[in-house]
Amino acid sequence: MATSHSPTSLLYIYLAFSLSFTSLASTQLSLSSIASDQIKFWSENVANKMPESIFNKLSPLTTRDRDYYTKMISENNFSENPNFCSLAKLSCSSEFDDFKAVKQAYAVTKVYNNNGALPFQSNKVDKFSYFRLSILREGSMLHLSDLEEKIPNRSFLPQELASKISISRKDIRKLFPKSYALSKNSMETTLSYCNAEAIKGEIKICPKSLEEMIRFSKLALGKTKLLALASQSTRTGDLLIKNIKRFDRQKIVACHEVYLPFTAYFCHSISSSRIYAVDLVEHDTRLPVSTVIAICHMNTSAWPKNHVAFKILKFSPGEGEACHWMSNIDLAWIADD
Ligand SMILES: *[C@@H]1O[C@H](CO)[C@@H](O)[C@H](O)[C@H]1NC(C)=O
Ligand SMILES: *[C@@H]1O[C@H](CO)[C@@H](O)[C@H](O)[C@H]1NC(C)=O
Ligand SMILES: *[C@@H]1O[C@H](CO)[C@@H](O)[C@H](O)[C@H]1NC(C)=O
Repeated sequence: MATSHSPTSLLYIYLAFSLSFTSLASTQLSLSSIASDQIKFWSENVANKMPESIFNKLSPLTTRDRDYYTKMISENNFSENPNFCSLAKLSCSSEFDDFKAVKQAYAVTKVYNNNGALPFQSNKVDKFSYFRLSILREGSMLHLSDLEEKIPNRSFLPQELASKISISRKDIRKLFPKSYALSKNSMETTLSYCNAEAIKGEIKICPKSLEEMIRFSKLALGKTKLLALASQSTRTGDLLIKNIKRFDRQKIVACHEVYLPFTAYFCHSISSSRIYAVDLVEHDTRLPVSTVIAICHMNTSAWPKNHVAFKILKFSPGEGEACHWMSNIDLAWIADD
């Protein structure tokens, strides 16, 4: 097992994030007052740069709009309307009902099924979606699958507004009736995962704002300063591993984006797992391609026997570790140690 503790890969993450961040920031003429608050909150609590995927979700609302709509929700006088949805950059009435994409977003790690349903099974199992730890070796070739999961682009709500909404069928149907009617299956999936009991030994939450996600992660990790790890968007294919950085932490919080009209995540604490940042380069030119994040679940004994990972890796629960890449809509949090 070759793990490197070379600081270069981490530096690469910082550099890559900060480069994309500055180029984005310069194309963005000005940030809204809420987006500025969200960036400030990030920098007070997170040691590394905001990944592009999060930057794209900052709220375009002004403080005035936020106060206006927060008041309307508080006074029970709010229902989705096109004006609010476009001001806040939400995806109301988007007719997004890609039930499969929403299910798959969970299937990459542990499946939270509160109704005894089987984990997501497909006839077209991607045999590269799970791998053993031994694949993570500097200088080795690997096949990278498509890490992109498609969920409509939309923004975070400001935390004050989000705090007035509960992730319950009652609230979502009341506040977003048209969206709910159009995307019922996807929203119901989100609701069922968010309202399921936590698996023993884990804690979970569905944060409705960036600040809530960060606060939960600080609490779960017992730390005041965090690192956020996200795979860079990348291409698929056969690539060479240039560098591997293992983050030596006992605790990880994994967050997967879920579908609601506003940005929301499903976050849970995971144990007995390892997390790596893997720098990939072109096989022939050795030019950098991207840094992707791998999570290895070292104890699979509690996983269901029919989990797709066992089909691919050809062993039974508890007989080995199962690793997978983090997709473009996932985010992992660890202590900044
Ligand atoms: C609800 O909000 C509208 C403005 O959007 C306002 O005209 C109306 O008086 C409000 N109703 C209540 C009951 O507060
Ligand atoms: C979301 O936004 C990103 C970055 O702006 C863009 O590359 C991507 O195509 C968009 N996705 C959708 C589904 O609109
Ligand atoms: C693996 O997990 C099972 C069940 O979750 C637990 O009983 C067992 O002690 C764990 N094994 C190790 C080595 O931690």
